Amino acid sequence: MPRVIVQKINNDEQIRDFKELGTDAKELIKAAMDARRNAYCPYSNFQVGAAIQTADGSIYTGCNIENGSYPAGICAERTAACKAISDGKRDFVACAVVAQQEKGFTTPCGLCRQFLAEFAQQGDFPLYCTKPGCPPLKVLATTIRDLLPRSFSFLGNK
Ligand code: THU
Repeated sequence: MPRVIVQKINNDEQIRDFKELGTDAKELIKAAMDARRNAYCPYSNFQVGAAIQTADGSIYTGCNIENGSYPAGICAERTAACKAISDGKRDFVACAVVAQQEKGFTTPCGLCRQFLAEFAQQGDFPLYCTKPGCPPLKVLATTIRDLLPRSFSFLGNK
């Protein structure tokens, strides 16, 4: 009889108060909140903002940009990542994602997880997922490796 191992992930352990985060994380979240206002999402009406901090301390922001040809749309995370990479910044050290989701927190989609993991400076970086609005803000603090363990890489496992 095969034994099924079920590991329960307790997400509550990863939920933090915004005010308890470090200055860099707070700044990144605020940048993602601002970027979210530029979301172009007439089809889903789901606004998402993202911000990526690169190794030199720069912050690149992005929003989701939809299209009448639905698959042509791009998520906020990849918008921010493409802005950083096209500016020569390939080492990501942190990322924030902001969206107003009723249940739970908006985390990067599968495609974005793979896209972001490619540019993780030390093979991993913290990810802060939260909602827009007023304090007391709760933040899901996780990491890209936590969201995408054993990710595919041509460059070998970092
Ligand atoms: N979306 C993002 O931009 N990031 C996420 O993490 C989740 C989903 C966008 C894609 C689409 O424009 C809309 O949200 C609904 O899926």
